Amino acid sequence: MSLPQYVKMVEVGPRDGLQNEPKPVPTEVKIELIDRLSATGLPVVEATSFVSPKWVPQMADNTAVLTGIRRRPGTCYSVLTPNLKGFESALAAGAGEVAVFGAASESFSQRNINCSIAESLERFAPIMAAARRHGVRVRGYVSCVLGCPYEGGIAPAAVAGVAGRLYDMGCYEISLGDTIGVGTPGKAQAMVEAVAARVPIDKLAAHFHDTYGQALANLYAVLQLGVAVIDSSVAGLGGCPYAKGASGNVASEDVLYLLDGLGIETGVDLPGLIAAGRYISDFLERPSGSKVAGALAGKC
Ligand code: HMG
Ligand code: MG
Repeated sequence: MSLPQYVKMVEVGPRDGLQNEPKPVPTEVKIELIDRLSATGLPVVEATSFVSPKWVPQMADNTAVLTGIRRRPGTCYSVLTPNLKGFESALAAGAGEVAVFGAASESFSQRNINCSIAESLERFAPIMAAARRHGVRVRGYVSCVLGCPYEGGIAPAAVAGVAGRLYDMGCYEISLGDTIGVGTPGKAQAMVEAVAARVPIDKLAAHFHDTYGQALANLYAVLQLGVAVIDSSVAGLGGCPYAKGASGNVASEDVLYLLDGLGIETGVDLPGLIAAGRYISDFLERPSGSKVAGALAGKC
């Protein structure tokens, strides 16, 4: 068993976490959350998305968020861009990195971005070209890597096919989304092994939602294969508006506790992360989704 010495933690709470929030979250609360998160030493904070406000109204304040944050040197602020329109707005707002998002399931692709998988890849091509011109790095997401809310099981070969296309197009990192959190460790390993035959393992990220409580076990399973980038949401915030029943990502505090316990470096401060989680949970008036935050309440 070989575990990575360092894991890059990608905090997606302000985007993946808040995009589906029924209670409106004021721009200044989002900005305060992002500033608190970057102060913990997180190397990447996914701040917002430049998607259609008709589809995801909660992210309509994208420009105000991205221009309002205090940029900490050492933190990269990333955003989602589904098309060239989104990319241009993101660029104008000063995005340091963008992400395109596709899926390994046709039905999910239609529901989420209103086009087929093949059409989505065509739509990403001009984003890739514009990003190259402007020196902006592009991350690629693949959703439904361990199951789809509409189609059920998804073959690892289908995931590898889409991940490989995104990598060939120039995405520097491919994030593998268990959108509805149905995966288990053996399936997660088989999926990552299939993708790793197409995309180098050091270019892969694990983006596991925790709907079935399996995310930490799945992460431990893929860490053993050499995956060294993990996406997570502070306080376990979130879900996807086009994946009914999907709960939040695995909680960042829980991931950090696991990594600290394994002696894996991250550069992220656990008490600071717990405090950021408490800030947003207090605002949303609900308990944190992080077990670690609950266990350490009052201790740090
Ligand atoms: P469409 O309706 O086919 O697009 O949606 P359209 O080009 O026909 O445009 C429709 C309207 O939206 C037009 O406005 C456009 O101008 C506007 P109108 O003329 O009607 O007034 N529009 C935009 N406005 C602002 N920014 C834009 C933009 N694009 C079009 N970028 C589209 C296609 C992709 C735009 C839409 O389906 C969409 O925005 N989808 C986003 C859905 C989304 O954000 N889902 C959640 C994120 S993905 C996720 O959570 C999964 C992930 O976490 C990984 C995992 O867990 O698996 C990443
Ligand atoms: Mg997600």
